[in-house]
Amino acid sequence: MRKTIISALALLFFCACAHVQEPATVACDLLPMPQSVELQSGRFAFDGNVSLEIAAGEEDNRILTAYLAESPLAFSADGKKSLKLEVAAVEGLTSPEGYRLEATKENVKVTSPSGAGLFYGLQTILQLVDDNGSIPTGVITDEPQLAYRGMMLDVSRHFFGKEFVKKQIDALAHFKMNRLHLHLTDAAGWRIEIKKYPRLTQFAAWRSKQLWKDWWFGDRLYAEEGSPEAHGGYYTQDDIRELVQYAADRYITIIPEIEMPAHSEETLTAYPELSCTHEPYKQADFCVGNEKTYEFLENVLTEVMELFPSKYIHIGGDEAGKASWPSCPLCQKRMKEENLSDVNELQSYLIHRIEKFVNSKGRQIIGWDEILDGGLAPNATVMSWRGTEGGLAAVNSGHKAIMTPGGYCYLDSYQDAPHTQPMAFGPYMPLQKVYSYNPTEGLGEEQAKLIYGVQGNLWVEYIPTEELVEYMIYPRILAIAEIGWSNPVERDYDNFRQRAIKAVNTLRAKGYNAFDLENEFGPRKETLTDADHLAKGKSVTYAPMAEFNERYNAGGATALTDGVRGGWTYTDDKWQGFIRRGGVDVVIDLGEEKEISSVAADFMQMCIPEVWFPAEVVISVSSDSVEFNELARIEHEVVRDEGLSYKNYGWSGKSNARYIRYQAKTGPQRGWLFTDEIIVE
Ligand code: ACM
Repeated sequence: MRKTIISALALLFFCACAHVQEPATVACDLLPMPQSVELQSGRFAFDGNVSLEIAAGEEDNRILTAYLAESPLAFSADGKKSLKLEVAAVEGLTSPEGYRLEATKENVKVTSPSGAGLFYGLQTILQLVDDNGSIPTGVITDEPQLAYRGMMLDVSRHFFGKEFVKKQIDALAHFKMNRLHLHLTDAAGWRIEIKKYPRLTQFAAWRSKQLWKDWWFGDRLYAEEGSPEAHGGYYTQDDIRELVQYAADRYITIIPEIEMPAHSEETLTAYPELSCTHEPYKQADFCVGNEKTYEFLENVLTEVMELFPSKYIHIGGDEAGKASWPSCPLCQKRMKEENLSDVNELQSYLIHRIEKFVNSKGRQIIGWDEILDGGLAPNATVMSWRGTEGGLAAVNSGHKAIMTPGGYCYLDSYQDAPHTQPMAFGPYMPLQKVYSYNPTEGLGEEQAKLIYGVQGNLWVEYIPTEELVEYMIYPRILAIAEIGWSNPVERDYDNFRQRAIKAVNTLRAKGYNAFDLENEFGPRKETLTDADHLAKGKSVTYAPMAEFNERYNAGGATALTDGVRGGWTYTDDKWQGFIRRGGVDVVIDLGEEKEISSVAADFMQMCIPEVWFPAEVVISVSSDSVEFNELARIEHEVVRDEGLSYKNYGWSGKSNARYIRYQAKTGPQRGWLFTDEIIVE
């Protein structure tokens, strides 16, 4: 792979200065950034005098011709200039998706070992083309870092129709993404027609409430298709074929996900005999002991594989509660017969068996990282979402991994200051955070080779509309596109942000409801400078049963007086988390008696992950750490709300103190308390 990347700054300089007598107007804002760019200030104009020549196999020829016919580039059969797209070996490329683009004032040539590479060269041209229909002359040699560059769209929690999915495919292709993973089945609705099991779409695809949150926190009932209370939908098999073809015509593979053994309440209500208790509305997990489960899953997967040519079929595997298996006679019998020592091994038995079936059809399975539990199936690819550990475990044992760690790749989290945003599921994860992820960082060469790809996931529990889907996807998926494509060594967020702003403007002009990156609110202002106050650097003692949680230690016992303030999320290692019965109960030693005028701390509330405001805060002072004098008792009625909010609990007045005790107690909801700094003035 050529590593002669010109850094963005150098590139701008080069573009501006290469030929001073003919000033360039080139904005070097390709996204993802190519591996090597050598642009000159001359221009090639698509001015109606350009002929098109495609030298590729029949199918690639068809795809590229059709795509170009819909593009803004104009061609004429007798054009004196030419655009030539040719499948041929390109020296120095290691990826079949790579390409070389050579543009002079007369001719543009894209060469690639594959039709996909020609398509990506074409996307580069489409990004370069200016309002006058011209592109700069020069040479771009380019190829992706990772073979799998994906986005997952959850169409179960809310259903989105095929035209909307096609619109997203168009955008993904433009940024050289090549996989769309559709989460087609989950409790909230089954979304794909399966001829053998009509109840899946006559019933399990419909529910009593349009909004997932009303349904999930309400009756959780399913409904008969066509009944007045039915909300939902599904893709017919013809819809699926149309989507698969539309994506393939943009070199995108759609990967279907069929959840098992968990997240299957809808299936087990339509076909209760597949659950351990045979009762509708009772179970989320299939009965893994029952042969009928395998018959069902294999029949479903057979139809799925007939519809989706993808080599990889996603079989879910995440978050199985396994609660009914220990008391289910069939599951217990299976465990005995197969010599399985626990329910993890029982799940692993199912995944192994399904893998064997899928492999027998010439396909491979992908599963969420829980498929590691109880032993990984021999040919499985792991999709690592609970952090990166699952992916690392997979590559360490010779398996492929697709990296989609929640802290970087879950696009259902807030992308800007929460009070400026629609309610989101996950904590603050701005574009910069997504962009900071490097899937191969710290890995040896052999392990890095097994990092098959990177993916952004959009779960849609709280995203009921198409507008909001686009808002959450763009521009963060562009960071995923660049992580998957470009050289990590050359990554520079400020430069990327400028290119992303341009891409957002392009997307918005094309009717995508992208987040307004240019007017981003930005980080919580408290985090920008350290807090300076009387307790800064002073020691903190935690009462028994009120120790901070190790996972959210924010740096340990000095965190509450280190001057470091928390940002918009409790996951930023700056908020200290408390889950023990005592809540927060700390004593700060100022070292000597001082006059104080205020004591205060911020807390946050985000009810979805059980992060709550305190119901009561008590602030007291002492000169000997034995006798404490109460300065304030602040009560607050804790009520469930949506979104993320912050509240300051403090005292102000006049007092003398050497020791300050700060106690915060949870309300009836219990759950977590998070605070970042106890500020004493
Ligand atoms: C997942 O987020 N449960 C894969």
